[in-house]
Amino acid sequence: MTMLIKVDPIKPDESEIKKAAEVILRGGLVAFPTETVYGLGASTYNDDAIRRIYVVKNRPMDNPSIVHVSTFDQLHEVAQEVPDDLEERLRVAWPGPLTVILRKSARISPVASCGLDTIAVRMPAHPVALMLIRLSTPISAPSANLSGKPSPTRAEHVIRDLWGKVDVIIDGGETFFGVESTIIDYTKRPPVLYRPGPFTLEELRRLFGDIRIPEQALGLGEFKEALAPGMKYRHYAPNKPLTVVECGDLDNLVKLTMDLAMDEVKRGRRVVVLCSSETCGKYRSLGLRVIEVGSRVNLYTVAKNLFHSLRLIDEIDADVAIAEGYPEVGIGLAVMNRLRKASGHNIVRCVD
Ligand code: TXA
Ligand code: MG
Repeated sequence: MTMLIKVDPIKPDESEIKKAAEVILRGGLVAFPTETVYGLGASTYNDDAIRRIYVVKNRPMDNPSIVHVSTFDQLHEVAQEVPDDLEERLRVAWPGPLTVILRKSARISPVASCGLDTIAVRMPAHPVALMLIRLSTPISAPSANLSGKPSPTRAEHVIRDLWGKVDVIIDGGETFFGVESTIIDYTKRPPVLYRPGPFTLEELRRLFGDIRIPEQALGLGEFKEALAPGMKYRHYAPNKPLTVVECGDLDNLVKLTMDLAMDEVKRGRRVVVLCSSETCGKYRSLGLRVIEVGSRVNLYTVAKNLFHSLRLIDEIDADVAIAEGYPEVGIGLAVMNRLRKASGHNIVRCVD
């Protein structure tokens, strides 16, 4: 049995969140919105509840979850040897979409850390998530999707994947950013970027100075060796073939996308194009199906709709999908990392 609780994302009703917090404290599973994507949470201190997350999601047992905290005291409770300079920086970045990998404390069980001696921690910038943690305990939560699906950015995605399998789903509307948090490994010198996210590379460099950025973190090519446990697993890919088109120049991008789409049409395939509000009209005028992802003027709109658009590919009446690429600036880097992975690195580039 799943209980659905609907709340205002900005001013959540404390008595409603309290019900969910009690479920966490009793060892239950609660799906809740964060500023990035929905998480599926259990008490960090309840091994049985954490094991259930893996069963429900069908997630490999060696892929650890992020611990979500609401205070710096809780950071020190779950991590040890937090350097002073890091805490200073985190007081700037948190609450926010930045996850930091640190040495785990003795309080963290091998189940909660999947046997690693490190733990990923973040303080989410979402009133619902913060209130839920404050009324319960640090919460271990991966994204609230079935393993192999895109992360959920709307309660309806969570309902579709997890209804009947979890105790509570808190519906707080659409998440704010729509792509998962930025992850850095602070046990390494210099710190290493594992996953680009809404806390941008520009912001990371400003705050931390030197950061190592492996090619894999950009979604360029598969890796021979996983930097982090979760990185060795195949990421979400739609059931239909997806091609990403990358060009520096927008006119060239549209032209190449049109050429690829019309080649497919000539072969008798039905095509759907994932385009921007600036360009979708061009494909529509060719009679092609489109999914409008967002505006190029504001890449946050693209990030916010990206996972919903990827879910739509499998629902729409089409055989193949082609997605326009975006500039790798700001949150665009996270967008391109997710798009490239979703396409299985099926990328076509302009020769410009
Ligand atoms: O925005 C987010 O980060 C969302 C919300 C719910 O907070 N969470 C999320 O969780 O995306 P998940 O489990 O889907 O992704 C967490 C990633 C995984 O790839 C996992 O392997 C990695 O973090 N991770 C967790 N603990 C780690 C550790 N100790 N060392 C290296 N990687 C770790
Ligand atoms: Mg995930």
